[in-house]
Amino acid sequence: MSCSITLKQISYKNSSNRLFENVNLNVGHEEKVAIVGANGVGKSTLIRIIAGLEHSYEGVLELFHNKIDSKKEYKKFRSDVGYLPQDVNDYFLCPVVIEDVMFNLRARGVDKEKAYCEALKILESLEISHLKDRTIFELSGGEQKIVAIASILSTEPKILLLDEPTNALDVNAEKRIVDILNGIKKSMIIVSHHKTFIDKLAPTVYTLNSTGLELN
Ligand SMILES: Nc1ncnc2c1ncn2[C@@H]1O[C@H](COP(=O)(O)OP(=O)(O)OP(=O)(O)O)[C@@H](O)[C@H]1O
Ligand SMILES: [Mg+2]
Repeated sequence: MSCSITLKQISYKNSSNRLFENVNLNVGHEEKVAIVGANGVGKSTLIRIIAGLEHSYEGVLELFHNKIDSKKEYKKFRSDVGYLPQDVNDYFLCPVVIEDVMFNLRARGVDKEKAYCEALKILESLEISHLKDRTIFELSGGEQKIVAIASILSTEPKILLLDEPTNALDVNAEKRIVDILNGIKKSMIIVSHHKTFIDKLAPTVYTLNSTGLELN
């Protein structure tokens, strides 16, 4: 199987105790995988490891069959990975919605006019184009979440790491996210507590606990 993400014997210890060990996972090309588990078990930590934001783990992380053993090595793949943090306040870099969605495109060298059109297109597909000139910090939590998802999708990463993408979303917004994610052929890891959301999206579900990932 062609794997986008491989974890071998990953274990993580924070300042006080060992969170998890023996985490093994293969996420194939365009495969969607969900991770569930109790509060505090370490789901967000594991996603941050895969997103290249947490380096003090033991074990092996591979992206597209390349062993990632340093921050420098991760850099080569950073633009292939779209990461939605659990708390989207950690995500935004620009104060205005459309500017935020344009930011990653501009950083990749897309000219301003094209970036604006692309950003608008993705906002329209998520049915939030009416928010384009609003200030991020005046949006509701759910609106912020959808804007962050728009921003991530705009750059077309090969891998999506989504940490609780639908918490704080209403039923209609959740359905839009399901439809959009189902229409995207990418490798995805989705962390969620919403069983109905996961059922519609990811055929493979693992539970994280302190001794590893268990297939549900
Ligand atoms: N920066 C940090 N320093 C110390 N401990 C931390 C830090 N971040 C998280 N933790 C602790 O690590 C544990 C795992 O946190 P994590 O956020 O990964 O859990 P989670 O499974 O995502 O939980 P939830 O379902 O509530 O989102 C928790 O006990 C948390 O308190
Ligand atoms: Mg979490």
